[in-house]
Amino acid sequence: MDKLVIKGGQTLLGSVKVSGAKNSAIALIPATLLSDTSSVLDNVPRIRDVFIYLEILKNMGVKYTFNQNQLIIDPNGLHSFPSPHLANQLRASYYLMGVMLAKFRHAVVRSPGGCEIGLRPIDQHLKGFRAMGAKVQFKDNSYHLTATHLHGAHIYLDEVSVGATMNIMLAATLAEGLTIIENAAKEPEVIDLAVLLNTMGALIKGAGTDTIRIKGVKKLHGCHHTVIPDRLEAGTFMIAAAATKGKVTIGQIIPKHLEPLSAKLREMGVTIQEKDESIIVTGHPKYTPVDVKTLPYPGFPTDLQPLFTILLTQAEGTSLVSEHVHLSRFSHIPPLMKMGANIRLEGRTAIIHGPTTLIGTDLYTEDLRTAAALVIAALIAKEETTITGWRQIERGYEQFLLKLQSLGVEI
Ligand code: EPU
Repeated sequence: MDKLVIKGGQTLLGSVKVSGAKNSAIALIPATLLSDTSSVLDNVPRIRDVFIYLEILKNMGVKYTFNQNQLIIDPNGLHSFPSPHLANQLRASYYLMGVMLAKFRHAVVRSPGGCEIGLRPIDQHLKGFRAMGAKVQFKDNSYHLTATHLHGAHIYLDEVSVGATMNIMLAATLAEGLTIIENAAKEPEVIDLAVLLNTMGALIKGAGTDTIRIKGVKKLHGCHHTVIPDRLEAGTFMIAAAATKGKVTIGQIIPKHLEPLSAKLREMGVTIQEKDESIIVTGHPKYTPVDVKTLPYPGFPTDLQPLFTILLTQAEGTSLVSEHVHLSRFSHIPPLMKMGANIRLEGRTAIIHGPTTLIGTDLYTEDLRTAAALVIAALIAKEETTITGWRQIERGYEQFLLKLQSLGVEI
């Protein structure tokens, strides 16, 4: 059952609706624990990372109901720290550090797991907590954080980090005084968290810029919030439409969040039509090579780099892809080369010579975005491809296969 068999030479045609953002949902869910009353989240994607988070919360005594895409969380019964075994399965369990520290002035959270995309330190999260008065100890593979007096602080992040920005925001909402985060991440998911927290009664200004100011409050209350659309899922369908030379309307999105990708697709010769809440992508037989450098938002997203690389194997000439966020995010290159792609890796840059006819073969992956990338590669390849480990996709994409099938794909 863990093998996906895809016939090559397929074209995506039709329209698809995008689900709520994974990287928002996995921060918003723990954020609701900051209150003692229930919160309602709409547009929550039914993906494995969300289900693991809910398992972690259930284990901590939190009650919830999850019907269709509406999640109601009642944090009243919260009685313990996350189980190390469960927290280890999900990188975003690190948000429970900020939440528990804010709420109880004490947190014990297992060192986070996540995708295999290289070293992923959390030193900037810890630097923020320490500046706010927390003592941090690492023992028995877990972080132990204690703050007798959690106070505001002026924190300059040495790395633009989505996780550190959101974690410090979470802790600062209930700290005493003003916290200022400089060199903060500007991702739409950071803004989404700020909107949720402000609806809960927090005082956060500047989310979406590189300076965020959080005035601590005494208490937060439950709220009703809708998760933003997943720009990475939208981007996946945009790249798949272009690569298969199809035509797809991608709906229920915020086109502005896709600008870094839309600009590059246009540069290659893909036709992009933006509407208020959708984008129509039309592929063409020939593409121009382009150079791409991944950067924090509003730069080109690292999460779409493996998928975009597939598309570049179809461009006529040489393209360069430099990874500047997760430096070893290249686990898609060996399987692509096995399919016949002409790619050379030099440090953090992939040099891609195209166009290449990819040939279907047996592939294996352990990474979410690589799995999605390989599905696109398989769709445009000659002959049949088998992907083992494809279930990684279910960590971050809601009904990915069903959505592809609705676009005419045979899997
Ligand atoms: N970094 C540090 N120290 C820190 C934190 C980050 O050096 O304390 C470095 C990282 O090593 C990396 C860079 O800063 O080189 C950016 O890391 P960031 O903290 O922004 O990433 P993250 O919060 O761990 C989230 C998403 C990733 C996504 C990145 C970048 C979650 C759980 N994960 O990771 O999503 O790639 O932001 O946008 O929200 C994915 O969805 O497939 C995925 C991996």
